[in-house]
Amino acid sequence: MGMIREDSRSTQASQRGLRRHLDEIVHGDCEDVLKEVPEDSIDLIVTSPPYADQRKKSYGGIRPDDYVEWFLPKADHFFRVLKPEGTFILNIKEPAVNGERHTYVIELILEMRRRGWLWTEEFMWHKKNSYPGKWPNRFRNNWERLLQFNKQKQFKMLQEAVMAPVGGWAKNRLANLSDTDKVRDESRAGSGFGKRVANWIDREMVYPTNVLHLATESSNKQHSAVFPVALPRWFIKLFTEPGDIVLDPFIGSGSTAVAAVELGRHYLGIDINREFTELSNRRVKKTQMRVPSLAERRSTYYGDNGCQ
Ligand SMILES: C[S@@+](CC[C@H](N)C(=O)[O-])C[C@H]1O[C@@H](n2cnc3c(N)ncnc32)[C@H](O)[C@@H]1O
Repeated sequence: MGMIREDSRSTQASQRGLRRHLDEIVHGDCEDVLKEVPEDSIDLIVTSPPYADQRKKSYGGIRPDDYVEWFLPKADHFFRVLKPEGTFILNIKEPAVNGERHTYVIELILEMRRRGWLWTEEFMWHKKNSYPGKWPNRFRNNWERLLQFNKQKQFKMLQEAVMAPVGGWAKNRLANLSDTDKVRDESRAGSGFGKRVANWIDREMVYPTNVLHLATESSNKQHSAVFPVALPRWFIKLFTEPGDIVLDPFIGSGSTAVAAVELGRHYLGIDINREFTELSNRRVKKTQMRVPSLAERRSTYYGDNGCQ
């Protein structure tokens, strides 16, 4: 109950802070638009910015050597608008240039840390449905980085919201437990973490790993670089509660806003390309027609006055 009241209070506070642009897809450069967003008002940022030098024709590529300089002023705005307990998820992957992987993502992480961000975690998006290919000096790239940044060590994280079925491994593994499996086995690397395999007997749901196995989006033909709605959906569940505010400053075709609406969260999407903002708006409207509105959900969850 305490949690629900807390959510209701924080939601009301956020909405007071962010009246303008709440539940909007805004056309513009995110650097300009975010100047109008109050500090500490966003619960989660999930985004996939343009990749360096790629897709130049569709929306203006940035040269890999210029990427860090291009991105950092935007990251400073993200830092300002994110709540102290909020999270920033950055979907990014460096291309190979002149036969080797470019280092701009690594440089970006180091620079962001210098500017106050904590690089808390790196998730991996494993693209389940990639088709094969042949390159002279490497194999098909089948994964992308999902970098997690925070402003402080204590951030909002609702791990139970993303629990997953225990999976096939459990049947054989848990039927043949060794003596070590029955006691807490401390990490040999001295990390302080330990595991007791026997804890998972009779569990149907377990905590997931930091690898997301998701198919790439093939049905959305109007934007060339979309991520699947399941990707922002997973992070929204993990890092926000109903009524919280999710920002995607490079919204593209609107995938993050669609996921936010489906889950009863508020959204703010920004794109520099007007056609993409129109596309996003169309997708969001369709989603709103499919799922009950946030206002309806809130009255179901919390009663008409927003608390229980
Ligand atoms: C990789 S796409 C995002 C795709 C999105 N995740 C989706 O699922 O549809 C990056 C988007 O960033 C937009 N963009 C590029 N520079 C921008 C800027 N400075 N401010 C806002 N949007 C920008 C592009 O127009 C493009 O739609």
